[in-house]
Amino acid sequence: MADILGLGVTHSPPLLGVDESMAGIVTRVVQSPRTPLPMRDPANWPLPMQHEWAEHQAGRAAPAHRARLVQAFSAVREALDRFNPDVVLIWGDDQYENFREDGVSQFCVFATDAIESRPFARMRGSPNAWGEPADRVVHTAGHRAAGRYLATSLIEQGFDVSYAYAMRHETGLPHAFINALLFLDYDRRGLPWPVLPFHVNCYGTSTISKRGAFAHLDGTGSDEPDPPGPTAARCFAIGRATARAFAASPWRVALVASSSWSHGFLVGKNHYLYPDIAADRARFEELRDGQLERWKELTTAELEEAGQQELLNWACLAGAMTELGQRPVWAELVETYIFAACKCFAVFG
Ligand SMILES: [Fe+2]
Repeated sequence: MADILGLGVTHSPPLLGVDESMAGIVTRVVQSPRTPLPMRDPANWPLPMQHEWAEHQAGRAAPAHRARLVQAFSAVREALDRFNPDVVLIWGDDQYENFREDGVSQFCVFATDAIESRPFARMRGSPNAWGEPADRVVHTAGHRAAGRYLATSLIEQGFDVSYAYAMRHETGLPHAFINALLFLDYDRRGLPWPVLPFHVNCYGTSTISKRGAFAHLDGTGSDEPDPPGPTAARCFAIGRATARAFAASPWRVALVASSSWSHGFLVGKNHYLYPDIAADRARFEELRDGQLERWKELTTAELEEAGQQELLNWACLAGAMTELGQRPVWAELVETYIFAACKCFAVFG
């Protein structure tokens, strides 16, 4: 029986950039013509958000936020180094990357042996945290055999997953995968393990209408919702099935949920400015206290109201860990009002 390690991380795009641009998303929302005039004035923001904004203006908030995230990534990396898997499966979302108007899959296993990515291509020339060239190409080893095995097993277990032998996205791995890999290799030692990307249609009703991000605020999207993504219960179930599949495989597998939690730019009740921190705290308590079964009951409406669309990646992990009877041995929630989304990290054992 194979060994399985469960991990949770963020793939927050602002962490790819420099500290000065870390609040770029909230600035973009403030400038949106759809943002009510009073909410464009920081004086009308919640008090803790005003405080964080003032700290950012003073040049302190972004370095402090980065330091916490980098430290959390190094804790997760340490667990990965100790475990030394044969393959790293990553559950990640797609924000108008592989899946666009010509087809959206609910779940897709990428069974490919090698992937070339240009992770900084979407940054429109703004500097990255490492001062690396904008056209840098990252080579990632895939694991076609494990991908084919997993897709086969999931289909046999009653989950009609899609599979793909190549990336359609022109810059290679979508952000959810490549960013997590870059952050897990923050000090650029290299990542020696093959990767198995597992797409989850977290954005559902926003996939095309909001282009998985800001189109609703830029006026380039549509208010017409797309069909929903999978339910949290379905993600939980496919996570359980994934754990069963790999438990019976010859491989040692790290299962990684890659996503931030509540995203400010998805929270309508907060004028798309800041995350639903209360909802994230509630989910974090459930994670910490081993109540992950509760996540099966989260409705799509509830997740969307809280801007927690990407939590579906973590629901897959929650199912896998429940199947294996594992609980977090370490977890941390990094809250923020102004840096796009709250971030959670976890190591199971
Ligand atoms: Fe994402």
